[in-house]
Amino acid sequence: MGTVWSLVIIGVAVLLMLGIKLLGSPKTARWGNRLAAIGMLVGLLALPDAGGDPVWQRDWNLNYLLIVSGIIVGLALGALGAYSVKMTAMPQMVALFNGLGGGAAALVGGLEFARAAAVPPSSAAAMLFATLIGALAFTGSVVAYLKLNGKLERPRLFRGQHIVNALLFIATLALGGWLTLHATGGGATALLLLLAALALLFGVALVLPIGGADMPVVISLLNSFTGLAVAADGLVIGNLAMLVAGTLVGSSGTLLTLLMCKAMNRPVGNVLFGAFGSGGSGPVAAGALAGKSVKSIQADEAALLLSYARQVVIVPGYGLAVAQAQHQVCELAEELGQRGVEVCFAIHPVAGRMPGHMNVLLAEANIPYDQLHEMEAVNPVMERVDVCLVIGANDVVNPAAREEPASPIYGMPIIEADRAKAVIVLKRSMAAGFAGIDNHLFYKDNTRMLFGDAKASLTALVSQVKAS
Ligand code: TAP
Repeated sequence: MGTVWSLVIIGVAVLLMLGIKLLGSPKTARWGNRLAAIGMLVGLLALPDAGGDPVWQRDWNLNYLLIVSGIIVGLALGALGAYSVKMTAMPQMVALFNGLGGGAAALVGGLEFARAAAVPPSSAAAMLFATLIGALAFTGSVVAYLKLNGKLERPRLFRGQHIVNALLFIATLALGGWLTLHATGGGATALLLLLAALALLFGVALVLPIGGADMPVVISLLNSFTGLAVAADGLVIGNLAMLVAGTLVGSSGTLLTLLMCKAMNRPVGNVLFGAFGSGGSGPVAAGALAGKSVKSIQADEAALLLSYARQVVIVPGYGLAVAQAQHQVCELAEELGQRGVEVCFAIHPVAGRMPGHMNVLLAEANIPYDQLHEMEAVNPVMERVDVCLVIGANDVVNPAAREEPASPIYGMPIIEADRAKAVIVLKRSMAAGFAGIDNHLFYKDNTRMLFGDAKASLTALVSQVKAS
């Protein structure tokens, strides 16, 4: 039997890893999701329980009615949430689900600690780690959810907040350390509850001061925390599938956090303690570019430029998601394609507000994957592009990242739209994007601004291209 279980565990691990690998491309992402789900199901059903018995020889005295009812309620709520969520609300849903996972992991670790009569320090460390990190991920994710849902918009900062947070962190760690070394189960329940309360409070204190627009990075970090808590639970209850799944979530969440920070050219510490981007999208004073004027363009003129171009690159950004104009942009690309214009989309890794935001949005409109190109592939040929059509993107095309050493986004890799022969920018006003700074692109000689909601502007462009 031992060999069979080892093979099952390896199979589960392979399915989970393959799932993550396939999630890396829009073409294979659906299959990645399915394979990982199958791996999870096998992990849940087939692996031996804590007594080492396989599913068909389990101790049926356990309350399976309660377990199955929980699974059914969870499935129903999860499916309802997933089918009803809007694409722009996806980050907050991920936050909520992640929070629930962290809370569950904390309960497993905490309950195992509370019910053990005597715990060796190594086991106590795993149980308390799961409690602490899981509880932190739970409240941190709930605060992230509230922020993204617009219930807690501004970062909450008070004087000396970082010191209070540091003290809270030290107190939580010290209590966890003391319990690990001196815990004997039973009598320590009150201190265990205190530890959980401190960790819950720390989760709130950590996320509260962070700007709403930085939440995707924070959610990814909290996601990796939940993974680590689940991995610790796997150690505690001797479930290798949980250990493998938790470690994979922990490591992939950490890598994703680092990748997002790299793509924004900001260290993780700056995201966690910098309260950057707190204002989100909103009007700003014209700043250093005051006095410079922008040139606007009407839809009919823009349509002519596009229709007679040989090569057009479309750069989608957060505004395209806000306007929900993915079907209109698809129609425009098709219309231009039929006229012999070579059209492709340039995707910046942090365009929008969550990883893969633009890929998901454009996939919704069935835009062929081979038309989606990464920033690195498009930049070297940008000089040959006749028209670069920027739709609701701002920071990811801001040349200040290249030209202004004092800019907060200096050093961030951008799509170099300004190097195209002509640039048309679709947005509603001169308001800043997430970074809250002026965009030098809008003032360049080769740039024209087509003001208005992206959906309305694209609809007008499509009809003008058809008429031209
Ligand atoms: P942003 O810089 O946020 O700019 C979006 C622009 O869309 C705004 O300037 C806004 O201007 C315009 N807009 C909003 N609604 C619109 C509508 N209905 N129609 C037309 N335009 C509209 O977006 P971006 O270029 O995609 O950059 C993303 C930013 O988010 C980066 O700074 C990135 O670092 C940050 N970020 C991304 C992530 C991930 S993982 N994607 C995570 C954290 C942070 P108007 O108001 O004038 O229309």
